Amino acid sequence: MSAPRIGLRGIVKRYGPIVANDRVDLDVAAGGIHAVVGENGAGKTTLMRIIAGLVEPDAGRYELDGRPVRLRGPADAIRRGIGMVHQRFQLVEELSALENLVLGATPGRLRFDRRAARTAARRLAEQLAAELDWEAPVAQLSVGQRQRLEIMRLLYRRADILIFDEPTSVLTPGEAELLFGIMRRLAADGRTILFITHKLPEVFAVAQHVTVMRRGRVVATSAVADTDPRQVGRQMVGEDLTPPDLRPSGRVGRPVLALREVSATGGRGEPRLRRVSFEVAEGEIVGVAGVEGNGQRELVEVVMGLRQPAGGEILLDGRPCGHRGVRERRDLGVAFISEDRDGEGASLDATIADNAVATAYRRPPLARAGLLSPGRVRRATEDLIRRFGVQGGRPGAPARVLSGGNLQRLVVGRELSRVPRLLVAAHPTRGVDLRGTVFIRQQLHRAREAGAAILLVSEEIVELLELCDRIVVLYRGRITADLPVARVTAERLGALMAGLAA
Ligand SMILES: Nc1ncnc2c1ncn2[C@@H]1O[C@H](COP(=O)(O)OP(=O)(O)O)[C@@H](O)[C@H]1O
Ligand SMILES: [Mg+2]
Repeated sequence: MSAPRIGLRGIVKRYGPIVANDRVDLDVAAGGIHAVVGENGAGKTTLMRIIAGLVEPDAGRYELDGRPVRLRGPADAIRRGIGMVHQRFQLVEELSALENLVLGATPGRLRFDRRAARTAARRLAEQLAAELDWEAPVAQLSVGQRQRLEIMRLLYRRADILIFDEPTSVLTPGEAELLFGIMRRLAADGRTILFITHKLPEVFAVAQHVTVMRRGRVVATSAVADTDPRQVGRQMVGEDLTPPDLRPSGRVGRPVLALREVSATGGRGEPRLRRVSFEVAEGEIVGVAGVEGNGQRELVEVVMGLRQPAGGEILLDGRPCGHRGVRERRDLGVAFISEDRDGEGASLDATIADNAVATAYRRPPLARAGLLSPGRVRRATEDLIRRFGVQGGRPGAPARVLSGGNLQRLVVGRELSRVPRLLVAAHPTRGVDLRGTVFIRQQLHRAREAGAAILLVSEEIVELLELCDRIVVLYRGRITADLPVARVTAERLGALMAGLAA
């Protein structure tokens, strides 16, 4: 048998007291897609950074094609054919896509040979079947386009090992499918792909091998054909994660939120919501299904008072509230989990404590006679950290030390520390690991059973089917279906989201 393309033996990497990689062994065969999965903090990114020459291990052996190597930085790695597509893209926003493609690729060459670059760009785009406006500045490209540009940048540098660190966490389902097509094509061409994700269906859709990491260690590597999602899930969390029963008890009360023929327009006056009408009642989760860009964002914004509707009426507990701002709506009992986690949802520079109380600081018990009590704030934060399982930071630390999943637990905890009248939840589990996802869904379920009305915007069909009492489908700004969940299957919902069925 020939040597694996990549072979790691006993790799160790410590950060102070934390052992990010603990005696890791890994073989990656040449040509194919090898998934690496694990909960937040399992050590996946650290391992990938070691493979890509960005981090030097404290101990262990690293072999390429059976020969030991010691990488002297990412440039050395790319010379040996190893490139990484990072979670945060490394493109220059002001430069064109074409300039970014070749930037830094030919050190020593001073002139930018535009014609040669164009030819190479065209060839790469053809190879990946990915269209791109090469003259546009990167700032104008969508997230998916930027990612494809990053991939082409690596191919331009002749990378034949490509590392993707949670590439789908920033993509819509449609774009993720496009990416999978590209990954399959690259693997069919003989390239070796390392693919990090914590969505198990993605592993079983594209990969041939899967390695599970937990607490810095590799717990298993299997051929995808020899395992199943349940087993991999168990290996990821170290126990059987029996999905909780989230079925509604069906005690639906009076309507809390009502939309009557609500319309909204975009920047150039183009319609984004067209006469949308539906209701959400006490003790009910109404899911808004749809592929991103069909009006979900506008819907959330008009309900929260972040955007003025162009027409129609929004009622909270029977009273028109179209003129009220976000803060007034919050005072009426509206809670909000924003899809924009580190913009609207939380303030990364503020402390965890400030984030925890950001929506409650004006009312008792935290404030007495308008004064904030530091002791109460600290105790409230500690309580929230415990109840909602926020790991990785003390109340006084800035929120940016938290991983995405833990930041979301903090936001969910803040919004659900008391039962809201109405909760608007936009993509609450996007990018959150398995255990966090299960936990957050359970919290939404609890809030419903305690009588909250919940509007849940999600692209995850499983999530919608598992949690909702009713599902409305938003397609091109219109509600094209409003159905009790019992009458919906995954296939039907997928078709409705794609605008294919009535
Ligand atoms: N540069 C760093 N400094 C300190 N600790 C780090 C650093 N990078 C990672 N860690 C820690 O190492 C552990 C593994 O992190 P990481 O490799 O990012 O995991 P994953 O990608 O699986 O979420 C975590 O506890 C994380 O906080
Ligand atoms: Mg990571």
